[in-house]
Amino acid sequence: NKVVLAYSGGVDTSVCIPYLKKEWGVQEVITLAADLGQGDELEPIQKKALTSGASESLVVDATESFVKDYAFAALKANALYENRYPLSTALARPLIAKLLVEAAEKYGADAVAHGCTGKGNDQVRFDVSIAALNPNLKVLAPAREWGMSREEAIAYGERFGIPAPVKKSSPYSIDRNLLGRSIEAGSLEDPWTEPLEEIYALTKAIADTPNEPEYIEIGFERGIPTTLNGASLSPVALISQLNEIVGNHGIGRIDMVENRLVGIKSREIYETPALLVLIQAHRDLESLALTADVSHYKRGVEETYSQLIYNGLWYSPLKAALDAFIDQTQEQVSGVVRFKLFKGNAIIVGRKSDQSLYTPDLATYGADDKFDHKAAEGFIYVWGLPTRVWSQKHRV
Ligand code: ARG
Ligand code: SIN
Repeated sequence: NKVVLAYSGGVDTSVCIPYLKKEWGVQEVITLAADLGQGDELEPIQKKALTSGASESLVVDATESFVKDYAFAALKANALYENRYPLSTALARPLIAKLLVEAAEKYGADAVAHGCTGKGNDQVRFDVSIAALNPNLKVLAPAREWGMSREEAIAYGERFGIPAPVKKSSPYSIDRNLLGRSIEAGSLEDPWTEPLEEIYALTKAIADTPNEPEYIEIGFERGIPTTLNGASLSPVALISQLNEIVGNHGIGRIDMVENRLVGIKSREIYETPALLVLIQAHRDLESLALTADVSHYKRGVEETYSQLIYNGLWYSPLKAALDAFIDQTQEQVSGVVRFKLFKGNAIIVGRKSDQSLYTPDLATYGADDKFDHKAAEGFIYVWGLPTRVWSQKHRV
């Protein structure tokens, strides 16, 4: 009878307020808007919830936790869904779910609600995360059941005093937070259609980027980025400054057709400048710090980890178990990676680490080579033995 609703200030979540009350008989709707660095003014959103009929309107700043506990965990795993999408939207969902559950417990609500449709991944992430954190809470998803088009939802809202969007509403569906923007729908629904430049906000078009390359250095400690060009920065400051610097060179755009968990292929555009460059840097530093077998094995863990984030299993025993593995591997991942940024490219031009396993004496082709060349012969004899035996038996 008391419900905590995830609230963004948009049409759908606003309409959820009267809908929950009038159609589903909910007595009290408490809204919760999470600040994840999306850059929205939260005060008007807070007011709008109240004028839309919420009894209480909560705003929670969770940007720091978002970066430290969610984005950086994914970064340590070099998490890229289908090898490309750094999960900027997906990572926000388990955190919002956690805030909803905490508020529900604090205010004695018996259910939480969200405005996701029945076609997406986000509903899965919310529902499963909430179930994991408090299996006794009910989850209400009005937009999954009301069957209203956007126009109908706007008309429904107007009947209950929710103003229709002032400007002609954008044809795109956009999700945004500190890590980046996810853009779909409108003309993007045709995978052959080139995105219009107007959809981008964090990255410049190549034609407008500087004509001189820019060098930057990113420093890591135990798998976590801590410095930018030698200056120590807080996690949030590091991401926002890096977004700025890298986006200015047109770096960080992704245009892909992805496989949603619910079986639908969707065309999505992402701009995630900082996160993409950080994953690139982190992976490169690992090439100095990890042994070959750990590094190769970790690739499989990374793939599984990316899928479980995408598929809503953040609060799962598998995630916790993989975290233990990943954290163990990060002990030595400290050092600096140097980039040249130019015309849409982030090119790594150097890396260094006090923990580096790179051994000049072994690697060099010069006179101070310490590698025992003759030892290679016996090694190759044994290594190739199964192949030699097979060939003697089966060679045609
Ligand atoms: N497809 C992305 C994901 O599942 C983003 C979803 C939200 N995108 C949006 N344009 N509203 O993580
Ligand atoms: C939605 O339908 O809620 C957005 C898209 C997605 O979740 O994948």
